[in-house]
Amino acid sequence: MAVWDRKILWGFVLLLAGAGAQSVNYPHPVCAVKGSTVTLLCSFTPVKSVIRENGREVPIVIVRVVWCQNHEICQGTTPSVYDSESTNNDRRYKYLGDKKGNCTLQITDIQKSDEATFRFRMEANDTRGHFTDKSGVKVTVTDPVRMKITSSSADGEMRGGESVTLYCTAVCTIHQLEVTWFKDNHVLSESGPALQLSPLTAKDSGNYTCGLKTNNRTVSLPYSLHVEAEGGNMSLIVGVAFGVLLALIALIVVLCIIKRRRAADKGHRAVGGETEQKHPDNIYSNTLIVAEEEEGGQQPQTSRAEDEISYASVQFKQKKQARPAEEAEDAIIYSSVAGRG
Ligand SMILES: *[C@@H]1O[C@H](CO)[C@@H](O)[C@H](O)[C@H]1NC(C)=O
Ligand SMILES: *[C@@H]1O[C@H](CO)[C@@H](O)[C@H](O)[C@H]1NC(C)=O
Ligand SMILES: *[C@@H]1O[C@H](CO)[C@@H](O)[C@H](O)[C@H]1NC(C)=O
Ligand SMILES: *[C@@H]1O[C@H](CO)[C@@H](O)[C@H](O)[C@H]1NC(C)=O
Repeated sequence: MAVWDRKILWGFVLLLAGAGAQSVNYPHPVCAVKGSTVTLLCSFTPVKSVIRENGREVPIVIVRVVWCQNHEICQGTTPSVYDSESTNNDRRYKYLGDKKGNCTLQITDIQKSDEATFRFRMEANDTRGHFTDKSGVKVTVTDPVRMKITSSSADGEMRGGESVTLYCTAVCTIHQLEVTWFKDNHVLSESGPALQLSPLTAKDSGNYTCGLKTNNRTVSLPYSLHVEAEGGNMSLIVGVAFGVLLALIALIVVLCIIKRRRAADKGHRAVGGETEQKHPDNIYSNTLIVAEEEEGGQQPQTSRAEDEISYASVQFKQKKQARPAEEAEDAIIYSSVAGRG
């Protein structure tokens, strides 16, 4: 029983092992500024088992991991930058990975001598599990120069409520860059290469600079941002949109009143005026007629009262139909506002 279970299990493992051979997943080429810290994110898939001469499937495990520079297979006399079996690895190279699938390497205080292709090697407790992926990851190191600020907006003239992103860049594109942002020479808490300011207020106006955290001589020239106080165009757009919405509602109401009056007129003609009592509209009509008789000369007030009654019933009755139109209108305003942001 137990033997059969094992056979099935290893057959399954063999299938898995056969399906995906060993591999290493290196990051894209990395560009680093001298003195900075670079993390080479890396993952690998080892072979899980091998078949002995007797046909037996045997599990294997990774027992050694190595990172080297400018060597095809990280073997022989080539010095490694990191070797899990060595006791005196350079402290600048820190292995953040493991022996199961993560081969991440971190290089601190990166130097010009680190400009190379880095490769990862795994060794298992069976030579058939040894593997180096030759493609490697290319690391370029540049001198620390002044950083440069680029902006998602053409110039530094912005309006309240808008958003802008400032990018702290160097000679080459740098990932995982740790920078310090300053606004009018005061340090900001953000440390990523992109500084997002959204939504902008007048308080965001000022001179922005950025530099490498590790080297304050790299501080960029200032980028001047000017944010116009909220209002201006923004409120104009909202005002216009609101006006259009009001006009639309008024139009719907007026149309409904006309429709209702026509229907009422028809009803009167059909049943011969005041005799019909079932229809609630006729109750209104009766009340109105009574009111008209009582008030006599005060015509304007009466018609206003009539309008109010019609308006109220229209609102009440038309609610279901009017809603989607209003909602759609809201959505249009939203999208036009979002489009500007
Ligand atoms: C490798 O190591 C694992 C775990 O220690 C063990 O189960 C396996 O038998 C070893 N394989 C070989 C081929 O020695
Ligand atoms: C590998 O380890 C690094 C450092 O601990 C971590 O940031 C990364 O997310 C890990 N990668 C994977 C695929 O788990
Ligand atoms: C930003 O710098 C300019 C000159 O480059 C200066 O005129 C302006 O006053 C500065 N703004 C602030 C808020 O310090
Ligand atoms: C740069 O940093 C060094 C030490 O960290 C400090 O002595 C120096 O005054 C700083 N320079 C500037 C311009 O802030």
